[in-house]
Amino acid sequence: MTNKLALITGASSGIGYDLAFEHAKHNGDLVLVARRKAQLEQLASELRSKYQIKVWVVEKDLSKNNAALEIYEWIKAQNLQVDYLINNAGFGGYGTFHERSFEDDSNMIQVNIVALTQLSKLFMPDLIQRQGSRIMNVASVAGFVPGTFQAVYYATKAYVQSLGYAINAELETIKTDLRVTTLCPGPTSTEFAQVAKAEDIRAFKYLKRGVDSKFVAEYGYKAMLKAKYIATPGFDNQLLVHFISKIAPRMQAARITRFMQGKD
Ligand SMILES: NC(=O)c1ccc[n+]([C@@H]2O[C@H](COP(=O)([O-])OP(=O)(O)OC[C@H]3O[C@@H](n4cnc5c(N)ncnc54)[C@H](OP(=O)(O)O)[C@@H]3O)[C@@H](O)[C@H]2O)c1
Repeated sequence: MTNKLALITGASSGIGYDLAFEHAKHNGDLVLVARRKAQLEQLASELRSKYQIKVWVVEKDLSKNNAALEIYEWIKAQNLQVDYLINNAGFGGYGTFHERSFEDDSNMIQVNIVALTQLSKLFMPDLIQRQGSRIMNVASVAGFVPGTFQAVYYATKAYVQSLGYAINAELETIKTDLRVTTLCPGPTSTEFAQVAKAEDIRAFKYLKRGVDSKFVAEYGYKAMLKAKYIATPGFDNQLLVHFISKIAPRMQAARITRFMQGKD
């Protein structure tokens, strides 16, 4: 039983929602962040009554410039101490690079990269001092390869992976329990495909069998507790990642994703 406070972004659905349950099962208190307040409030009241834990809800749009700072300041104003920072909020967007609007891709970069980076920077000095502290960043198997038809999304996840490795290498040189776990799920049944307008691509049609967000959350949470640097849930995803990121040349990998992200 952890009795630790976790701040989870993107807790209103999918993997973040299940991560909240996972942490609650470990007797931990929670700060839930997302835009859809009603979903967060409903989850919060369910968790409070089921697990007798404290849950706070923060309605925030992470695509806005000051969102991360406002969250951090709110935490300070409440006198709360975060033990686990879980940067899970993120979204994709389907389409050829030159046809997608800059505004859509820029919002994606803001949520998937900028907010995650700023939250990590703001909370890290405190987390470094705390016993058993962790950051979990939710990247994707997409981070291992170039992602044709979702070029910016895949690139944002490559950034998240790279960041995690480098921060861990820095943390290894100082006295702290803090480690970054980068969770890299494969196709998972959540609202993601619908939001990205990618429901009918081959990767979602053929690869998501059996992978639900609960499994991903349990796997990721365990990996975080064990301070694993990288966690890819599912043997088929591990095999796929190994093949397309380690064996296939990088341009071939881009062509493979062009097939997987294509439509029948
Ligand atoms: N599902 C997959 O196949 C898959 C695979 C690999 C990696 N991932 C990653 O897993 C993470 C969670 O995604 P999911 O699959 O659980 O999808 P999801 O069901 O669509 O959940 C996404 C979460 O992010 C939040 N979010 C999106 N934009 C936001 C914004 N501007 N401000 C604040 N919160 C925002 C959403 O909340 P609101 O809409 O309420 O704001 C929601 O809670 C993402 O980082 C995604 O890239 C997913």
